[in-house]
Amino acid sequence: MSRAPLQVAVLISGRGTNMSAIARECRDGRLNARIGIVLSDRPGAAGLATARTLGIEAHAIPWQGAAGREEFERSLDAALARVRPDIIVLAGFMRILSPQFVASHAGRILNIHPSLLPKYSGLHTHRRALEAGEREHGASVHFVTAELDGGPLVLQSRVPVSVEDTEESLSARVQKTEHIIYPRVIGWLAEGRLTWRQDRPWLDGRPLIEPVVEDFGADRN
Ligand code: GAR
Repeated sequence: MSRAPLQVAVLISGRGTNMSAIARECRDGRLNARIGIVLSDRPGAAGLATARTLGIEAHAIPWQGAAGREEFERSLDAALARVRPDIIVLAGFMRILSPQFVASHAGRILNIHPSLLPKYSGLHTHRRALEAGEREHGASVHFVTAELDGGPLVLQSRVPVSVEDTEESLSARVQKTEHIIYPRVIGWLAEGRLTWRQDRPWLDGRPLIEPVVEDFGADRN
């Protein structure tokens, strides 16, 4: 029996290239999922217009207009309730969700972060990796918990860092891999390979203790 498409809500703050990558995979039938709604805390986020051109319902829930995080999250929950997503995908969403919000959606929020977590949580990850002289860097898809960038890791992309790299070149190399690994994790969920049980992720019937790591060598960039 074929499964119903995974219902996805995407939260963005900016360009939304990860959202577009996921939307393309859905459209082309490579992902048994459907983005029901795209929401942004920033009304000017370019990703909102991109989503609409892809035929996806997209709205701003301005952080600025809200009287604090509680009100913002109430509006967010109201918008999400309309589509009842199986999974909430944070794709360049630059706000910190409250522990209450996260708990009420436990095991149903994913994030992508531009570093090999637990290294470089927070901001300016590419710059910090270069300054530290890292030889490799990457991106991480993880479940969201109350700890910032600290939830259980699912899949990481690893890329080489070259001595000629700038923040821009490294960021571009990592972003390319984000567009591959994020749809892949959503695919695992859609296929029922990835689940959340007993407060932790399971992959193919086993608790996921360590993230799956995919190497993107120089020839794959
Ligand atoms: C992505 O590179 C993502 O990893 C990063 O923001 C970018 C959004 O790009 N997320 C974070 O830094 C979260 N802490 P996009 O809007 O083009 O998808």
